[in-house]
Amino acid sequence: MYFSRISGLSFVFWLMSAAVGLARVSGLCVDCHTMHNSQNGESVVFKYDTITKGIVSGVDEVNPGLLNTDCVGCHQGTNSPGSVPFVLDINATDGTYGTTGTEGTTLAGGNFFWVAGNERAGHNVAGIVGSDLTLTTAPGGDMAVQVTCAGINGCHGDTGSDGQVQSLLGSHHKNDSSVWKTGVLATPTDMSASYRFLAGVKGMEDTGYELNPSKSKHNRYYGVDRNISGDAATGSISSLCARCHGDFHSGAGVGADGFTTSVWLRHPVDYDMSRASSSSEYATYNGDNSYSVISPVAGSADGMDDTLYNQTGDAIVMCLSCHRAHGSRFDSSLRWNYKKWPALDGYNGCAVCHTSKN
Ligand code: HEC
Ligand code: HEC
Ligand code: HEC
Ligand code: HEC
Ligand code: HEC
Repeated sequence: MYFSRISGLSFVFWLMSAAVGLARVSGLCVDCHTMHNSQNGESVVFKYDTITKGIVSGVDEVNPGLLNTDCVGCHQGTNSPGSVPFVLDINATDGTYGTTGTEGTTLAGGNFFWVAGNERAGHNVAGIVGSDLTLTTAPGGDMAVQVTCAGINGCHGDTGSDGQVQSLLGSHHKNDSSVWKTGVLATPTDMSASYRFLAGVKGMEDTGYELNPSKSKHNRYYGVDRNISGDAATGSISSLCARCHGDFHSGAGVGADGFTTSVWLRHPVDYDMSRASSSSEYATYNGDNSYSVISPVAGSADGMDDTLYNQTGDAIVMCLSCHRAHGSRFDSSLRWNYKKWPALDGYNGCAVCHTSKN
């Protein structure tokens, strides 16, 4: 394990009690903010040493937004229904993820925990682990610095802000997860109308962040039914990934023949499976066409449906059909154990769509 930092603050008291029904922060201001970063003459925000498990005295870490901790400090813990969305659970075990990630306590994005033991298990986010020594550049793109949670080098918030809190200032208090996110930004840093504070991304958020999801309880990812690979598919969840992994999404080398029929150069994404013939293997997606939380698809309309091929554009392949955004137990942050299949711990998530391949 080489977590570069974990929070030393005892937030547990409010983490469990914070009312997050609408997934909007509420509660005592003092639980999350500190006015002067000073209490009884001591600083409130301090550095924690993971080796000695003690506070490094004399090292203040004043946070922007008068916050008493940072992104990782608040988003670290073990998920339970209604808790703050935790994306780093340092007490995770293989059972926390299970075989496919639908069991246990892991949310839709996965858990950064596994990246600490295996740099190939997901994004090596600054503040959690050291940088990826193998992937020094984002494959399919040219970003060559370590990823942060938010801002210019991160996934969440305004992609033009170089401060992480600054990049989403105004979002936590305004968020309402019960409505369709249009991706329209009222101000550059107000992410409340963007899916999971991802600038410009559309979608519908499961209010439980996909803790133990099912075909009728899941996020509605937004996808675009494209017919040329140069289409940037603005607002789609895969277009977010394309910001750093562009060639895998909208580069010239995706569809050999203009994105219309078979023979692909890279796996299609933002491509609707109903474009394939009705006698193809995709017609029996997941056996009975029910939405699979193991190999999910995106949709181009704001409806939520349990069954595919009910509406136009509801069977769109996306990056998250195969990957977790944060980290998983497996190499390349895959949703299931691709390498190990057909052994016991393995799983053939490809076959959810490629129903004639096993
Ligand atoms: C559960 C944690 C939490 C609690 C409780 C909380 N805040 Fe915040 N607040 C945040 C976070 C995180 C940010 C910074 C990120 C953002 O704005 O999305 C923030 C930002 C702010 C901002 C600047 C952005 C904006 O929305 O205007 C103000 C002002 C603010 N809080 C005031 C308050 C007050 C007043 C209270 C008590 C009534 C309070 N907060 C309670 C977490 C909290
Ligand atoms: C802000 C830039 C950025 C964005 C946005 C981004 N990535 Fe990455 N990604 C990187 C970088 C840099 C690396 C290589 C270093 C690392 O693993 O952190 C990487 C690595 C990866 C890896 C390989 C992990 C490994 O170690 O094997 C996968 C898979 C991946 N990204 C998928 C995605 C997906 C899916 C999305 C969208 C949900 C996405 N990325 C969005 C920058 C980004
Ligand atoms: C003081 C505690 C605190 C800090 C600091 C904090 N968050 Fe949060 N965050 C919360 C709470 C509580 C929620 C659940 C309520 C909500 O959705 O606003 C949340 C929700 C979120 C969500 C889910 C929003 C959704 O669509 O449901 C994202 C994404 C997020 N935070 C990212 C961040 C990032 C990135 C940072 C650092 C820039 C950060 N948070 C800093 C407490 C915090
Ligand atoms: C969410 C559904 C989905 C998942 C999951 C999925 N695929 Fe695909 N795959 C497709 C679709 C749709 C096409 C394009 C079909 C077409 O052009 O008719 C495709 C195309 C392909 C092709 C290219 C075929 C050609 O005609 O050029 C290969 C190879 C492939 N997939 C392998 C895989 C593997 C291996 C996995 C698992 C790691 C996987 N797929 C997971 C839906 C999926
Ligand atoms: C059909 C499943 C599937 C889809 C869809 C998919 N990937 Fe992958 N991806 C894989 C698999 C499997 C690997 C592991 C390497 C391999 O077998 O090709 C991988 C590897 C990667 C890697 C690591 C490459 C390396 O050099 O090690 C990155 C980065 C990545 N994918 C990003 C993306 C992004 C971004 C998207 C969407 C634009 C995407 N993937 C869509 C299945 C998929």
